[in-house]
Amino acid sequence: MKVLLIGSGGREHALAWKIAQSPLLDALYAAPGNPGIADHATLVALNVEDHAAVIAFAKEKAIDFVVIGPEAPLVAGLADDLRAAGIATFGPSKAAAQLEGSKGFTKDLCARYDIPTGAYQRFKSAEPARNYVREQGAPIVIKADGLAAGKGVTVAMTEAEALAAIDECFDGAFGTAGAEVVVEAFLDGEEASFFCLSDGKTALALATAQDHKRVGDGDTGPNTGGMGAYSPAPVMTPAMVERTMKEIIEPTISGMAKDGNPFSGVFFAGLMITAKGPELIEYNVRFGDPECQVLMMRLKSDLLPILYATATGTLDKVQAEWRDDAALTVVLASKGYPGAYDKNTPIAHIPDASEEAKVFHAGTALKDGKLVATGGRVLNVTALGKDVTEAQARAYALTDRVEWENGFCRRDIGWQAVAREKA
Ligand code: AMP
Ligand code: GLY
Repeated sequence: MKVLLIGSGGREHALAWKIAQSPLLDALYAAPGNPGIADHATLVALNVEDHAAVIAFAKEKAIDFVVIGPEAPLVAGLADDLRAAGIATFGPSKAAAQLEGSKGFTKDLCARYDIPTGAYQRFKSAEPARNYVREQGAPIVIKADGLAAGKGVTVAMTEAEALAAIDECFDGAFGTAGAEVVVEAFLDGEEASFFCLSDGKTALALATAQDHKRVGDGDTGPNTGGMGAYSPAPVMTPAMVERTMKEIIEPTISGMAKDGNPFSGVFFAGLMITAKGPELIEYNVRFGDPECQVLMMRLKSDLLPILYATATGTLDKVQAEWRDDAALTVVLASKGYPGAYDKNTPIAHIPDASEEAKVFHAGTALKDGKLVATGGRVLNVTALGKDVTEAQARAYALTDRVEWENGFCRRDIGWQAVAREKA
């Protein structure tokens, strides 16, 4: 099979690394890719916003299958255009990608099909939203409706904070993404991420993970795209996974199909495990970054036929086998992230991979033959272990061998699971 992978982050490096191990693979291309992905794929300088150019390249190289990593091309309808051109594609249609692209869309689906989630209302102007907040009181959650690079959510502990967040959205802090606002009840519990494939009819549960969104140790400081993750998430017991499938995933699949938007791709469900059980915080319609890195380390099965079955409506024919080991990834970011940071800082050394550890590239580039950091999140140092404690020790041992002066990381990734394992 000839495969084209779209994307350039740590998530796509992990996907490329895993796809490259498939005996079914004849050739792997990545657009635009990164220097880590270049170890496994031929990089192609395509503008992925130019769908006609992507299709022309796929035709020229007789690509059998396209795997789309990030959300932006999905929300822009790249999967629809590729499928219309007769090319099998992993990733939901533009209509189904609204599950990630519009928080209001997802909340309305939950309301229609009795999927557990926080009570909410949607608003197109500030005054009614402010009144609703005054009625409900704090804590309360304010969300820009559209894609806001993970920054459009305020968990307001006071009414004043909530009112300020509403004004910020309608004053244009998130551009058109904030033209509509969802105000949502605060859910109390432990968060977990759950990954599940669907071909529109059948579901295949993958695995669970926990992210670390805040930039600083002890979950302090501003939100980021994710500073590290581990899998599995202990709060997601087999019984909790079963409830999540039944109460959240299955009604989503049947509801989306009933509404004329069948979903094919990966559900990345952000869950809050409350006293009542699992409740949906949000859906993403692509693998998490850096959650994908820990999932790929733990996946024993060949990834390629699983993704292909998802794209071609044959998910009932495949299974996914997982290692019992835990996996943990530490994100090395440029000093200053998530604020301003220097670009093109030199990375002098990345240690070699071993059976149980690997460094994935996220925001790196080659400049005059030298590896430099170009992004906020730059490297994902990932390790397996018999438990999270061992995976954490291995990941940090490897992190300490990376030579990159302008990099920093959190030193406590996995702290919740490690505390549990000590108890
Ligand atoms: P989201 O971008 O929707 O994942 O929101 C970012 C973060 O805000 C989540 O990971 C949660 O930590 C928090 N959050 C979002 N919605 C709620 C809610 N209804 N109750 C409590 N926390 C929430
Ligand atoms: N790590 C969170 C995300 O990929 O959205």
